[in-house]
Amino acid sequence: MRNFVFHNPTKIIFGNDSTNKVGKETKNYGKKVLLITGQGSIKKIGLYDKVVDLLKKEELEIYELSGVKPNPRVDLVREGIKIVRENKIDILLAVGGGSVIDTAKAIAAGLTYEGDVWDLFTKRIPIKPTIPIGVVLTLAATGSEMNGNAVISNMDTQEKLAISSPYLYPKFSILDPQNTVSVPLNHTLYGIVDILSHVFEQYFDRTEDAILQDRFAEAIMRTVIETAPKLAQNPEDLESRAIILWCGTNALNGIIGVGKEQDWASHAIEHAISALYDIPHGLGLAIVFPHWMKYVIDVIPNKFANFARNVWGIQGEDDFEVGLKGIDKLIDFYESLGIPTNLSRIGINNERLEEMAEKATKFGPIGNVKKLNKEDVYKILEMCL
Ligand code: NZQ
Ligand code: ZN
Repeated sequence: MRNFVFHNPTKIIFGNDSTNKVGKETKNYGKKVLLITGQGSIKKIGLYDKVVDLLKKEELEIYELSGVKPNPRVDLVREGIKIVRENKIDILLAVGGGSVIDTAKAIAAGLTYEGDVWDLFTKRIPIKPTIPIGVVLTLAATGSEMNGNAVISNMDTQEKLAISSPYLYPKFSILDPQNTVSVPLNHTLYGIVDILSHVFEQYFDRTEDAILQDRFAEAIMRTVIETAPKLAQNPEDLESRAIILWCGTNALNGIIGVGKEQDWASHAIEHAISALYDIPHGLGLAIVFPHWMKYVIDVIPNKFANFARNVWGIQGEDDFEVGLKGIDKLIDFYESLGIPTNLSRIGINNERLEEMAEKATKFGPIGNVKKLNKEDVYKILEMCL
């Protein structure tokens, strides 16, 4: 295991009715709040009115930035930075899924940079200390509620890129399972794929002795795999919503990845696909991951055998054989939930594979299990067809 420092400062407020605490929590960080929201789902479920009432009760001054789209755009981030500067906002409050939270983080990052915020994504300029972010999460998926990452798309350049900084961890995140019940089935399932994929990125690597992290990871995978079909059958099941919500946070809050090399090539490939085709992140991952697994299994067959044995209960002697069966089980699992695992099934053909491979490797080879160059990514994308 590698040496590591683990510092996750986000306060988690978990449970039914925890939303009621949003006013008091926000007030700890100032008077002027920029409320950042998506395309209206929170209005339909009454969450918007509830949050506004709770903020007003604490006599907070509310400014608004709404309309964040899935695969959130840098244009809206620029608008947000302008509002914050003009009105001397004290705290950003993101009420929504990963796209809304990432928009808040990008605004916070851009505020303390004099140039255009997109430079932070393309030039990897270090992010400076900035204003606080609070979160009311409405969708279990990204883990953005308890990490320092943000992923933003630029439609002009057809890029989707990430930033990461210790200054971008939310100060608090309210995880109220009731706020996730209305998530449509497709986005619920994409969220589930994203959660599993975050575990895969950290679990399938070349670090041999991070036993506790890997057992934690297996526990998350087993819990998700056990709970997802229940949720698909009954999306209103609050207990299952709560279980998945907590799995999502734990999958990418750092705890299962400490001391590990990790990989993250599949995420880079998926971001290249959604930069060109604007597909949901989880859907892209359901397609990319099984094929990446088949491409790299020969390097770490023991890890794939662990996955097959400890997560799926597959028996057998030969690690490679057993590992392959584990990958097939994953494909069957996604397909049984109605999630496609091939590009052709979502209308993407071989026309732009080269462009995607180019984008994914723009900053050099990706991943660690195998360092993937453009040609490798092209081959994986071909397998995805
Ligand atoms: O816009 P609204 O109206 O809010 O609708 C959203 C959106 O259409 C809807 N939704 C959210 N909560 C709902 C709801 N609908 C009904 N009821 C609710 N309670 O769901 C749709 C998807 O929302 P979005 O926020 O885009 O989904 P998600 O949370 O999966 O976020 C995806 C984005 O996060 C990035 C992805 O690349 C993608 O851009 N990621 C961020 C990461 C991070 N910051 O750590 C890591 C991830 O790997 C990922 O890359
Ligand atoms: Zn993800």
